[in-house]
Amino acid sequence: MSERALHVHDLVAGYTPEVNILRGVELQVQRGEIVTVLGPNGAGKSTLIKAIAGLVAIRGGSVHLFGQDIAGVASHLMMRRGLAYVPQTNNIFVRLSIEENLEMGAYIQPDRSIIKRDLERMFDLFPKLRERRRQTAGTLSGGERQMVAVARALMGNPMLLMLDEPSAGLSPKMVGVLFAKVRQVRDLGVTLLIVEQNAKAALAISDRGYVLAQGRDQINGDAQELLQNPEVGMLYLGVRRGLS
Ligand SMILES: Nc1ncnc2c1ncn2[C@@H]1O[C@H](COP(=O)(O)OP(=O)(O)O)[C@@H](O)[C@H]1O
Ligand SMILES: [Mg+2]
Repeated sequence: MSERALHVHDLVAGYTPEVNILRGVELQVQRGEIVTVLGPNGAGKSTLIKAIAGLVAIRGGSVHLFGQDIAGVASHLMMRRGLAYVPQTNNIFVRLSIEENLEMGAYIQPDRSIIKRDLERMFDLFPKLRERRRQTAGTLSGGERQMVAVARALMGNPMLLMLDEPSAGLSPKMVGVLFAKVRQVRDLGVTLLIVEQNAKAALAISDRGYVLAQGRDQINGDAQELLQNPEVGMLYLGVRRGLS
């Protein structure tokens, strides 16, 4: 039987008390799913992820992670609740080595031997990072940096991993490599919520998707169904020239 990993209900949130960016968002992610949130620039996708992660004030509704109410939990405590979040930008420590970046992701883990074990697991998942473990992260390519950011988040052993536009700025080839890794991460037992502009690539690896606009979820459905949906196609898949 499927189990609900994340349940966002009637979520109202914003940066100031006067302006609510999210105005009643409904979203559910089942355990083991990859779910993508699409939407135009400024729709509130990042705000949604940040509200779930405890970085934006929640003014209404609820957020449950595996049945536990996490609305209002401070962001630095979310890892202990099983939630990890990779921001769109500034998501690695550029002056630290790859290995140090990953170790930072395990800061709540007091047991060195577990950290060592998890490091090796990450290097099995991202062999390129193993070769360069002592290299400064700031010298890496965009795709490699994104891998470091994902690996660092996984070092906290999250049940749910949220990625904010992981493919931003990557070459089409690198986008393919990264999303293939995302599938592998899911196969390790991690549930994923992804925010993306690259609708086609993201939906191709997702189970379901949501389209966010004007602070609400407007469309949701099976990923393949969304890929066929003319409304979604027009807005996000470049079906009509100039709009993609
Ligand atoms: N730190 C912030 N303070 C105030 N308003 C913000 C902040 N970040 C984003 N916003 C506003 O929230 C709205 C949604 O932004 P965002 O969630 O970043 O959209 P998306 O990620 O879908 O492009 C926009 O109108 C944006 O201007
Ligand atoms: Mg954003």
